[in-house]
Parts: sequence; C-alpha cells; structure tokens
Amino acid sequence: MRILGKEYRTIWYENDVVKIIDQTKLPHNFIIKNLETVDHAVNAIKSMEVRGAPLIGATAAYGIALAIKENNDLKFIKKSSEELVNARPTAINLQWAVHRINNKLSFIKSEDLFDVALKEAEEICNEDINFCKNIGLEGLKIIEKIYEEKKNTVNILTHCNAGWLATINWGTATSPIYHAHKKGIPVHVWVDETRPRNQGANLTSFELNEEGIPNTIITDNTGGILMQRGEVDMCIVGTDRTLSTGDVCNKIGTYLKALAAHDNNVPFYVALPSSTIDWETKDYNKIPIEERNSEELSHIEGKDEKNNIKKVLIYPENSKSMNLAFDITPAKYVTGLITEKGICQASAVGLKQMFNR
Ligand code: MRU
Repeated sequence: MRILGKEYRTIWYENDVVKIIDQTKLPHNFIIKNLETVDHAVNAIKSMEVRGAPLIGATAAYGIALAIKENNDLKFIKKSSEELVNARPTAINLQWAVHRINNKLSFIKSEDLFDVALKEAEEICNEDINFCKNIGLEGLKIIEKIYEEKKNTVNILTHCNAGWLATINWGTATSPIYHAHKKGIPVHVWVDETRPRNQGANLTSFELNEEGIPNTIITDNTGGILMQRGEVDMCIVGTDRTLSTGDVCNKIGTYLKALAAHDNNVPFYVALPSSTIDWETKDYNKIPIEERNSEELSHIEGKDEKNNIKKVLIYPENSKSMNLAFDITPAKYVTGLITEKGICQASAVGLKQMFNR
C-alpha cells in the first residue's frame, strides 16, 4: 500500500540487508531501517519497530537468514531461533515462521543454508500478501451485503492496527475495507485509539489517510455508545492467536468491544491468515499474555509546537500501573472468522471444516 503516494511492503531484502519501516516513528516520521544481524531482528520485534502478528513472523523468518549469514553453525541457528520466538510471547506467527524455516533447513548442506532460509522468508511474505488479499475479497462480500441493504456509507469499527503495517501488505482487518473502497463502496472507519501505544491512532488512521479512506479516531471507550446509537454497522479486528476452538486473542480491549457489539447486535468479525491459528492449545487461559513495561502507560510521546518529538510523564510519579497487552474474546462473541479460504464460524467445527483438519 502507499506512503506519500509510493507503494511499499513493510519488509523486504535489498542490498544484502533486511529493510523495515520503523513503526515506532510513525506517524510523524517515515524512516526505513536496516536489519543486518539477528540481534537487530530480535530488537526490532521487542521494541515494536515491527509489530502485528504476520509481520513479526516474517521478521523472525528473515532473522534466521541473518543469523546464518553471521554464523551457519547449527548451535547458533538454534539459539537465534529461540531468541526470535521469545522476543514476544503472544502472537503464534513467531513460532510458526521459525519452525517453518527450521524444517526447511534440515538436511540442507551448510553452504546452501542462507539461500534456502532467505527464499523461505520471501515465500512466507508472498504467501501472506496473497492470504491477506483473499481475506479482503472474502470480507468485501460482507461489506457489499451491508451496503446493498443500507444504501449508505458503511461504518466499520476496528481496534489496534490490523492494517497493512501489521502484515506485509493489505492487512487483515483493513483488507476488506481497502477492497470495498477500490470497488467504490462508501466506507468510513471508526478507529479505536488503542492505548497505551496508540497503534489505532498512529498507524491505522495514518495508513487509511494515505489510501484516502475516511476515518475518525475515537477513544477506546467510545465504541459502546456509537453502537447504541446505530453508528457502527460492523466491527472487524485482527488477532495474534486464534485457537482451534474459535477463541480469539487480540490487542487489549478487543474483548470489551466484542461484548458491546454482542449487546447491540452489531456483527463482530475477526480477520486472520491461517498462520495465526494455534491448533494445539485448547484452553485460552493457557495463552501467554504479554505484559509490557508500565512506562508505556505512564509516559506519552508526541510532537510539540516546534515539531520536536517529546516524551512526557502523564501519571503521578509514584503511581503503580499494569500493562497487559492482549485479551481473549471467547468464540461465542465472534460472528465469523474471515480467513484466506473463506468465512467460517468461530468454532472447532467451523475451523476444522474450513481447513480440513
Ligand atoms: O502489539 P501489536 O501492535 O503487535 O498488536 C497487534 C494486534 O493486536 C493486531 O490486531 C494483530 O497482531 C493482528 S495483525 C494483522
């Protein structure tokens, strides 16, 4: 998708380095950064220069190629793989990508390891682009149906950033929106700010603006009253891990939005590529929920009147705070899962049938 009118992917390999868009600098500064070592890749994931489940999976995949470039000893590759998987605990895509690359590397001659890892990382990215495109075409059918009935702008609420910046291109939750816009269907997006890191305001609103899609940023607590007033036609969110039971783990606050949607008969969809499905874990209480530094709550960053980026303390100096990054939306509150293969029920049966497992 576009930034300043030019097409980008979120990650690519060029001149022997991995290139990323540093998402900690958006929306005020657009900076492309080089990752040259596996440590760079681990730090980019931890510091959220790259974030969003599919993108951190892809970064980990490239990270293994970078590790091999530094040292193709199997022990080093194993240690690097563990560091990449542990960089963030909740999104299953990290494990999925690292296992996929490592499986590909078994029985490969040491001199070919780098080429095979790099090719597989690129394959993961290309596959994600196709999957996200299909998610868009599937989700478009829902938006079209609402538009046919309503014959007026379709208002969609989304949480956090499950946009193209969270994937390689298109996004998951935003892909149906981009496809509807391209088809000429009038859409307007309610963008949850998504405290504390404000991925909604800083990233989702930014990328929708760049594509010319009308959107309005709201605080995380505003969705409920908008639903009561009939100003939300549907919700679409992404996910960091969806269990085979259909239970959805996503950015903190998703659950409360799903409850409000349920209470107001607003359809609540979750968009995901199959790389985000955890087929092993059955109990959502077993999902590791990331707890991030409480400084993300107590401090806020913004641009001052002289265009300098500044970080300021907004809490009482000695107050304690807690920063859980994800929550769980039980399957019963999810209207449907929009996947690359089609739309299915958020249930064991729905997922099993869709993916033939
Ligand atoms: O903490 P983040 O910014 O990595 O969280 C991202 C989300 O919660 C997204 O909704 C999720 O990764 C889906 S990405 C298509």
